[in-house]
Amino acid sequence: MRKKVTVVGAGNVGATTAQRLFERGYMDVVLVDVVEDMPQGKALDIAESGPVLGVDASIIGSNGYEQTANSDLVVITAGIARKPGMSRDDLLFTNMKIVGSVTQEVVKYSPNATLIVVSNPLDAMVQHSWSVSGFPKNRVLGMAGVLDTARFRTFLAQELNVSVKDVQAYVLGGHGDQMVPLTHYTTIGGVPIADLLSTEALERIIKRTQGGGGEIVALLKTGSAFYAPSAAVAEMVDAILLDQKRQLPCAALLEGEYGLTGVYMGVPVILGAGGVEKVVELELTADEKALLSTSSEAVQELVDVMANAPKV
Ligand code: LAC
Repeated sequence: MRKKVTVVGAGNVGATTAQRLFERGYMDVVLVDVVEDMPQGKALDIAESGPVLGVDASIIGSNGYEQTANSDLVVITAGIARKPGMSRDDLLFTNMKIVGSVTQEVVKYSPNATLIVVSNPLDAMVQHSWSVSGFPKNRVLGMAGVLDTARFRTFLAQELNVSVKDVQAYVLGGHGDQMVPLTHYTTIGGVPIADLLSTEALERIIKRTQGGGGEIVALLKTGSAFYAPSAAVAEMVDAILLDQKRQLPCAALLEGEYGLTGVYMGVPVILGAGGVEKVVELELTADEKALLSTSSEAVQELVDVMANAPKV
């Protein structure tokens, strides 16, 4: 039997994620959205690409959750996206309501699923989903670090005219402008980045990475990024469903790691069949520790605001 994956939210991120997952061929996909007929239409369109691509998996659209029953994994993309000038935090209350009620429906039908949350503000939304779900922490995680790191790797590869495949890097912390690129873990084929780039160039690239989501929002004008975010989700789905034991930066619940407790943050984790199988603790410089702590304070602030918001 093929694996079963549900993608909630059939907007740009959700539909593109569903397409990427369907094209892998080893999982059946259910695409859920509240808008009548829309997820059905997008799913049918994707299904009709099957014969051309040689994919036998199934993909269906639905407005409810019955058809999502017994999913192995659920990707939650539901929520509104940023408009130019908005920060991810501006989405807090609207998306908290949406992510909370989606999580309730999802866990009712798929009590054993692993949840990957993509909705923004990311770290706060994954924390909220985890607390609503009642799931163990290893089965609820957030996508941001793979995307932020992919942006950093893209800019480094372009600057140095090298293959993206040879750029090894980590961006940790919350998925906000205070994310923390770890420069001393950044190498090109094992050569430390500091040996290849001036401090000024590196600073410029770090700044661009931190504002990478906003750069796309400003260009698109009507929404936020979805090609790179969906690629990042698909890499995480593969790691879990194929039990690859990948080490990827994801938002995971910290309980003492990196000196932080009770807060979701972007950190390197081992992703496999057990979801977040381990949080990997890298040795950080004093500067990086300070940046991570500032980033966690920004996340904690949102979590505190949510604690006082009306419950769903
Ligand atoms: C971004 C949005 C998806 O970083 O948070 O593009």
